[in-house]
Amino acid sequence: MSFDLVLFGGTGDLAWRKLLPALFQAFRHGTLPEGGRIISVARDDLTDEQYRSRIQSRFDNVELAKRPTPQEFSRFAALLHHLRMDLSQPQDYVRLADMLKARNADSLVMYVATAPSLFTTVCEQIAAVGLNGPATRVVLEKPLGHDLPSNRAINAALRHVLQEDQVFRIDHYLGKPSVQNLFAMRFGNALFEPLWRRETIANIQITIAEELGVETRGAFYDQTGALRDMVQNHALQLLCAIGMEPPINASANAIRDEKLKVLQSLKPWSPDTIGQHVIRGQYAAGTSQGHAVAGYLQENGVDPASTTETFVALRTEISNWRWAGVPFFIRTGKRLASRNAHIVVNFRPVPHPIFKTPAGAANRLVINLQPKDGLELHLLAQGAAQHQTEPALAPVHLNLDFDQRFGTERVGAYERLLLDVIASRLNLFVRSDEQEEAWRWVEPILAHWRTDPHGPRPYAAGSWGPSAASAMIARDGFCWSEEV
Ligand code: BG6
Repeated sequence: MSFDLVLFGGTGDLAWRKLLPALFQAFRHGTLPEGGRIISVARDDLTDEQYRSRIQSRFDNVELAKRPTPQEFSRFAALLHHLRMDLSQPQDYVRLADMLKARNADSLVMYVATAPSLFTTVCEQIAAVGLNGPATRVVLEKPLGHDLPSNRAINAALRHVLQEDQVFRIDHYLGKPSVQNLFAMRFGNALFEPLWRRETIANIQITIAEELGVETRGAFYDQTGALRDMVQNHALQLLCAIGMEPPINASANAIRDEKLKVLQSLKPWSPDTIGQHVIRGQYAAGTSQGHAVAGYLQENGVDPASTTETFVALRTEISNWRWAGVPFFIRTGKRLASRNAHIVVNFRPVPHPIFKTPAGAANRLVINLQPKDGLELHLLAQGAAQHQTEPALAPVHLNLDFDQRFGTERVGAYERLLLDVIASRLNLFVRSDEQEEAWRWVEPILAHWRTDPHGPRPYAAGSWGPSAASAMIARDGFCWSEEV
């Protein structure tokens, strides 16, 4: 299958940090279809050769195992081309169309890795020059809008020029191998599904903790915050994967229909529930990996009086028969104690204990997403002290480490998602109605914060966030996974 992959923003941060390294990995693994071209589009006036050597120098920053040898790079570089374009100029799209139509590839991917303000312009202009035919797939990075109205406006504009199944809204969390394994665990095994319900599960916790601060993205982040950056998309997609009903098959729409139902069933907010169940925080100075680090307000590009949140913890419920009354806790933040993303499924304790057990001990399934990718099943077993008169149980766990089992050379998120776009597989991409529903759900929180005089709670960099997040979960009688 021949393909042309046009990278709008081909000299930008996302292209050289994520997309080109992922395309190179696919090339190295032999999974990138042969006969492809990768065409960078940007304002920079570069020849193909100049673009290639710029990319080659960028690869020096890639981790060693993923860095091409000079021979590999020269073979990969043959796929790379550059076209100078001003994306606001309609005539420049004519030159792009001439270049693409001359070849008429089977799959035409337009990856719009530009500022979000250009998304609709790019899509309208590619349609104006007839590049929106059935072979075209358009990939859009988040953020798609900053609230429900702006998201709807973008989706409405896209609908004028593209069919829904031509639009690939990327959420790179869906491409992570661990998230694939979450689907496999739930829908490829009979073991868990009968237990996956309110009668047996006490609560579910989703944590996406980052050690890094805002790095070089202060100005962007200050307009965004953790709710928009992480909760509206990545965390809610994980919640859907955990909470959805088994889809009727593995097709994109069957999966997306079930995820949509979860989003539609999320308990609506009221000012009271937002006040009690949503905690926002902002990191103050502290330490990270043993080094002193600045607080958020001292970061470059951040307004020194900013009330943007770098941490969110919240409690929600999925109001349906399977989950009614089961709290789902979501927590995400920057400059936390460690880089750690995991989902904890806490089961209820046995209804009639006959053994002595440590306080609060019950079964727990931990789905580790990063830095390690695997499953841990926490059980209670007869400990070593056989001589005790009263049998006592001790916590033990079964550990399945996917890196050890399948090797660390597994397909990365962007590699997987890019190959899916080329092959037009939509399963791991977000449909417009899902995205709108997720915005609809976060909207009351954003509105509440706009007028809330309290602002975010400070937490020390290197901690697990404001203590109010622990107090919030404690009100239900639970604690976060690291507090067990
Ligand atoms: C991005 C956010 O979508 O996800 C970043 O914009 C965040 O702020 C990143 O750092 C986290 O992704 P990962 O794969 O490193 O957990």
